[in-house]
Amino acid sequence: MKILTVIGARPQFIKAAAVSKVLRSKYNEILIHTGQHYDENMSKVFFDELKIPIPDYNLTVGSGGHGVQTGNMLIKLEDIFVKEKPDLVLVYGDTNSTLAGALCASKLLIPVAHIEAGLRSFNMNMPEEQNRILTDHISTLLFTPTTSAVKNLYNEGIKNNIYNVGDVMYDAVKHFTNISKENSSIIDKLDLLKKKFILTTIHRAENTNNISNLKNIIEALNETSKTIVLPLHPRTKKYIESYNLVLNNNIKVIEPVGYLDMLNLEMNSEKIVTDSGGVQKEAYFMAKPCITLRNETEWVETVEAGWNIIVGTNKDKISKAIAEFSPSGIQKNIFGDGNASTEILNKISECSFN
Ligand code: UD1
Ligand code: UDP
Repeated sequence: MKILTVIGARPQFIKAAAVSKVLRSKYNEILIHTGQHYDENMSKVFFDELKIPIPDYNLTVGSGGHGVQTGNMLIKLEDIFVKEKPDLVLVYGDTNSTLAGALCASKLLIPVAHIEAGLRSFNMNMPEEQNRILTDHISTLLFTPTTSAVKNLYNEGIKNNIYNVGDVMYDAVKHFTNISKENSSIIDKLDLLKKKFILTTIHRAENTNNISNLKNIIEALNETSKTIVLPLHPRTKKYIESYNLVLNNNIKVIEPVGYLDMLNLEMNSEKIVTDSGGVQKEAYFMAKPCITLRNETEWVETVEAGWNIIVGTNKDKISKAIAEFSPSGIQKNIFGDGNASTEILNKISECSFN
């Protein structure tokens, strides 16, 4: 069987780092990088550090409006799919690269496997929500990370070929945590005291593209007496500059970091403040209190477990949570056992696509 995998954005590189090596133990995988993320610290660093196979194709689509970006991917993917004739196309998550890969395959009647299926924010203003709903409805195999994701699919009438395998990001964390401990010196490099800083990431469109949301978040970070470490996504950097927002000295702004440094920052932080999906889960895996800068989350289990608090972009709520939020619940195994990749391989092996 020939599997063709489409990735393009930072979290997908990390997920592929876990899944690709397992898939390749049995199958021929062709890897396509759409080029959605392209800066060295948003792309190459992950391939190098995590030993992700070099992509067979890079579509170099770059940035642009949703139509331009997704459309360019579709045009380029179709030629490759027609030439490579894969038995299965694999996509991850909810980015424009996910939707392009799934849609292109579906139109060519190639089966699609969606990893991280069934997640919902119930907020159709998010491009990610649009991408994931559309992708799930044209997918053949749906690999869910949580039981609530299974429920969401059922509620939309998708009832077949759902496999609740757990979260591949947990596989990645389990595999790379010790490697991070051995190789990352980011804490010393940034002169940080362990458990004495708040790690923050911001990149969600609803937060960056809205001046009052971004201003509230930055003001809350400015006003805390704690040290904030902020690996800055290029989207957010662009908007902070264009809105002329000023960051106080307690905020250490750094370039986006590689995954090994990121895990190290997470494991040594006091708390995590984020609007990232992946970082919310990693906070849970590392048993760190997570403060989520959104009005809802797809990762409801982390909130129900008491380890994640949803504060939106209300300045006072953010400040209060930074000062006071303390998890109350005992941690449970809500994301599987860290062997999702092997379960995915086993399920794919049971299906015949020829
Ligand atoms: C994308 C995904 C989002 C995911 C995130 C992971 C979509 C709609 N959004 O958001 O779901 O959580 O990736 O990080 O697919 N840029 C650079 N260099 C890069 C990449 C981006 O400068 O290497 C800048 C460009 O100005 C670009 C902007 O960041 O316009 C946004 O990039 P884009 O890939 O469109 O969306 P993300 O915010 O990264
Ligand atoms: N990440 C990283 N370096 C950074 C910021 C994030 O390696 O500077 C990792 C993070 O640990 C997680 C993934 O990127 O594994 C999350 O990606 P992102 O927040 O960009 O997207 P999302 O998960 O929200 O789609």
